[in-house]
Amino acid sequence: MRVKDKVAVVTGGSSGIGRATALRLAEEGAKIVVSDVNEEAGKATVSDIVQKGGEAHFHKADVSNEEDVKALMATTFERYGSIDVVFNNAGVGNQQLKITEIETDEWDQVVNINLKGVYLGMKHAIPYMEKGNGGSIINTSSVLGIKGMRYQGPYNAAKGGVITLTKNAALEFGTKNIRVNAIGPGVIDTPIINNWKEDEWKWGIISKANALRRLGKPEEVANVVLFLASDEASFVTGSTMMVDGGGLTY
Ligand SMILES: NC(=O)c1ccc[n+]([C@@H]2O[C@H](COP(=O)([O-])OP(=O)(O)OC[C@H]3O[C@@H](n4cnc5c(N)ncnc54)[C@H](O)[C@@H]3O)[C@@H](O)[C@H]2O)c1
Repeated sequence: MRVKDKVAVVTGGSSGIGRATALRLAEEGAKIVVSDVNEEAGKATVSDIVQKGGEAHFHKADVSNEEDVKALMATTFERYGSIDVVFNNAGVGNQQLKITEIETDEWDQVVNINLKGVYLGMKHAIPYMEKGNGGSIINTSSVLGIKGMRYQGPYNAAKGGVITLTKNAALEFGTKNIRVNAIGPGVIDTPIINNWKEDEWKWGIISKANALRRLGKPEEVANVVLFLASDEASFVTGSTMMVDGGGLTY
């Protein structure tokens, strides 16, 4: 087992990439705290893990709310006695609008969840990691953290910020044996991209805009997060690992 007995917090664990990763880490022996704003679906992730013989618990938290995130990390530490892995993954998309059209409230919401949520996850988990033997943090960015795309202003900005914040945290906590990496998924088949499917012509292009000419699956992202969470990645920190089927290369 590749992450046996490690305690892992997974935000956005109710759906898509977070759910697949919670299941994969549990298969490899980790104890999982599944966190999300969607309680019903989060509890379903937990019961799927438990049914397969794993250990998991649900904790509702909005990653953009500091008190929620503080309580998430504190209760995880109280319950399991350590925090070894944090997957800061919860995220939302934005409406397809130009930056001159997008409402400031929507900008705030997207940046608060996708970027501030990552900052809060690290801020409140790292003190517990420092008390233990260190840990591994994985932050979800995107190919859109590197390349621009029309009508993706807040998302582009937030995901770009995740990459540089990841480097910053890797430098600040490396000597404490805390590794911090990001992942950059391409187009992965999860509910977050459902609205892209509405325009058949556009979707035909977007869904194949990579070297492998297909969509990614959440399980394919989960395998990369598992590697970064595990001790196999012991000399990997500050990096952003693309999981995009060659989408950036395309
Ligand atoms: N699917 C893709 O193509 C793709 C590509 C690149 C990056 N990403 C990123 O991957 C991450 C996971 O997305 P996904 O594709 O699995 O989508 P998803 O919609 O299936 O999952 C996102 C989860 O985040 C939760 N969430 C939303 N706001 C939250 C909040 N404030 N606090 C806590 N939880 C919240 C949702 O309830 C949901 O369960 C996101 O950060 C997303 O930006 C996805």
